[in-house]
Amino acid sequence: MCGIVGAIAQRPVADILVEGLRRLEYRGYDSAGLAVLSESGKLQRLRCLGKVATLAEALADAPMPGTLGIAHTRWATHGEPSQRNAHPHICRERCALVHNGIIENHENLRELQRDAGHRFTSETDTEVIIHAIHDALEARHQLTDAVRICTQLLHGAYALGVIDRAHPECLVAARLGSPLVIGLGFQEHFIASDVPALLPVTNRFIFLEDGDLAELSRTSVRIWNAAGEEVQRPVRTSTLSVDATERGAYRHFMQKEIFEQPRAVAETLEGRIGTDQVLSAAFGPEAEALFAQVQSVTLVACGTSYHAGLVAKYWIESLAKVHCQVEVASEYRYRQPIVLDQSLFVSISQSGETADTLAALRMATQNGYLGTLAICNVAESSLVRESQFQLLTRAGPEIGVASTKAFTTQLVALLLLALALGHQRGLSAEREAHAVQVLRALPTQLERTLAIDADIAELAQAFVEKGHTLFLGRGEQHAIAMEGALKLKEISYIHAEAYPAGELKHGPLALIDEDMPVVVVAPNNALLEKLKSNLEEVRARGGQLFVFADDQVALQQTEGVRVLRLPESDDLIDPLVFSLPMQLLAYHVAALKGTDVDQPRNLAKSVTVE
Ligand code: F6R
Repeated sequence: MCGIVGAIAQRPVADILVEGLRRLEYRGYDSAGLAVLSESGKLQRLRCLGKVATLAEALADAPMPGTLGIAHTRWATHGEPSQRNAHPHICRERCALVHNGIIENHENLRELQRDAGHRFTSETDTEVIIHAIHDALEARHQLTDAVRICTQLLHGAYALGVIDRAHPECLVAARLGSPLVIGLGFQEHFIASDVPALLPVTNRFIFLEDGDLAELSRTSVRIWNAAGEEVQRPVRTSTLSVDATERGAYRHFMQKEIFEQPRAVAETLEGRIGTDQVLSAAFGPEAEALFAQVQSVTLVACGTSYHAGLVAKYWIESLAKVHCQVEVASEYRYRQPIVLDQSLFVSISQSGETADTLAALRMATQNGYLGTLAICNVAESSLVRESQFQLLTRAGPEIGVASTKAFTTQLVALLLLALALGHQRGLSAEREAHAVQVLRALPTQLERTLAIDADIAELAQAFVEKGHTLFLGRGEQHAIAMEGALKLKEISYIHAEAYPAGELKHGPLALIDEDMPVVVVAPNNALLEKLKSNLEEVRARGGQLFVFADDQVALQQTEGVRVLRLPESDDLIDPLVFSLPMQLLAYHVAALKGTDVDQPRNLAKSVTVE
């Protein structure tokens, strides 16, 4: 949930570290810091409350020369955002540490260490780690051994970067449950929470596995696995360009990512649909045999990815005629779910590192599922590595904290899954061929839909001063309404709720008055007439309606009813098409309000803690 970077090089590392942090800021941004070992062997440290830009300014005023260093951008879990809780944490001016994750037994360790004479300067769970490493160093262990001894004391999750004054030739890293990569350069090596952080300095990476411990010098990298055996991990070359994570001419990353959706969707479809059918092999060589046995599907995810699952339930039931349940991962993992015979477990995640989703997957592997499938945007993520089957979305890096292109590409992947399951279970060839045709035209359809941007930018004015908004939809569009509400509250801080439109009269109708904007998702489908009656209920009580409707929907714009037209689309892909105006509405309202669109308060992109 935080971002870490480390470097050991022949050249000064402070600027490399800060640039790496800037590229990891999506992981957390309430405080930042770095520690660099000076030529004279002094541990220099700089920490700031606030964003990486503040740290960069402070560094410009007080440069930190040195060729070995570590850095951190934080999303607070234990201890408020403050300078004293910011990383790196140091012990007795000797060694320094950055940490991503949560140490569950920190209270016990803290008590023991306090009794042994350590003084604590923060409220973090992290500080116990550096004191434990310090004690092992003082007992004359080498730095790598000291970190190994320390990790044996820890319960929880961590990715660590550690330096020590007495080991100027060494940067030590370890991971368990939190991601960490090693970047390979020429006579310089790096660590980071994620690949984009290091793209300005290398495109060659080693992905550490859970339990790995690594020792980096300027000329070598050594890795030991959880059993303490020295191992070779494969070196992979990243095809991401340095500017894949740049904002370009857009005002915000979120805006750029909204407009990237036609291309991201096209790439997600590439090689996965044939002339008139979905290519099941896209899910892996054994997938066809697996899909033939599936009698039930469990979809598990968090947040926006969960909303993708809610849409997919409709597709899986109607196209594959298979029982489907959708679960929030943080709840599922603590239940004792009944697993039906021949069930497929599907996890959905942009990052593939979401702690609750990963825990649910790990539980599922013990629970007698027929197989596990990950739908994920990050090829090297834990979720992908730990699932038997994978379908990668190809959204490219998503930097804005509010998920947009990751969501629509998840929908595409889930629709492919529904069709592939349907193929095995009696979906007619005509229906499948029609779906493939519709999918092929989808990128163009999304491009045309984005033309509504200017209208929504103007419409956004009506929401800026509001404290609440209601979103309505029926059928799978209820999930899109939920996603619209999540986007709005997440980046504009306007309270928003979504309801299936038929539920209004069972309570929420009491909220309706002229101050409550009501956003409606109204495609031209079988539920339209029912939806219209629900809208009358709102109108009759003075509610202000903002209806996103298909071109073909007969709905008059009148006093209190604003209708925004989208190009006509096929029912099957309506959830994708109607997602775009939801994203654009949230974006423009937030941009008008001047909130931090890409890094909304209190949030982080990758939720690697429970
Ligand atoms: C909201 C958003 C989050 C994520 C959630 C799960 O815009 O992005 O709700 O969807 O934190 O993250 P992943 O998909 O990485 O598992």
